[in-house]
Amino acid sequence: MAPTPTGRYARRWLVVSWLLTLSYVVHVAAAAFWTGAILFYAYLVVPAGGRSWLDRAAMNVLLDRLLRVTRWTGIALPVTGFYQWWVLYPVDPGALLGTTRGWLVLAMLSLWGALNGLLEVGIYRMRTVGGSVDPVAYLAEGFLVDGGVDGVATERLAAVGRPYVLVSLALTVGLLVDAALLAGGVPL
Ligand code: HEM
Repeated sequence: MAPTPTGRYARRWLVVSWLLTLSYVVHVAAAAFWTGAILFYAYLVVPAGGRSWLDRAAMNVLLDRLLRVTRWTGIALPVTGFYQWWVLYPVDPGALLGTTRGWLVLAMLSLWGALNGLLEVGIYRMRTVGGSVDPVAYLAEGFLVDGGVDGVATERLAAVGRPYVLVSLALTVGLLVDAALLAGGVPL
């Protein structure tokens, strides 16, 4: 363990320690919420939607919520993640590229980017299944709980989304394994 600083550095050290702890709390809570929502969607919603066990109103709300969680965690995760990066792997590129933990952090960032993009594109494809939608309007409005793709059967919507959800599932599992390796340590 590093020695505790004294004198004029003590106060700054205390502030950074508290901010780092707060950052970890927000980071892990947001990660759990987001990955949990994706697993819930893939495991429960897609099969139910494909068999018409869900009506369109329920499907709309679930898709809209998944997109919202993706977007707010899409701010919380990078803000806290880059802060942790800045504090834990400061100015030394060797700490990132020369260690297993560093590679795990880079993999985390890449998986996050790929998963975020995939969900945005997949839900956009579902929104446009009944006709074209301006991508800028989609960015501002999201999926639209009260319609937007009315007249399209729930099964059709689920079928359009399924490939995106399956790849998202694989990326989510990759992220969870990555986070577990960071938490548990890799004996390499
Ligand atoms: C912009 C995206 C992200 C960045 C830059 C980032 C960065 C980081 C950093 C620097 C750490 C601290 C690593 C260490 O302790 O050495 C960390 C920890 C963690 N991250 Fe991320 N992360 C991102 C996204 C995610 C996502 C999407 C998840 C979802 C599973 C996630 C889950 C975690 C967890 C659970 C930890 C705690 C691991 C531990 O106990 O050390 N992160 N992240």
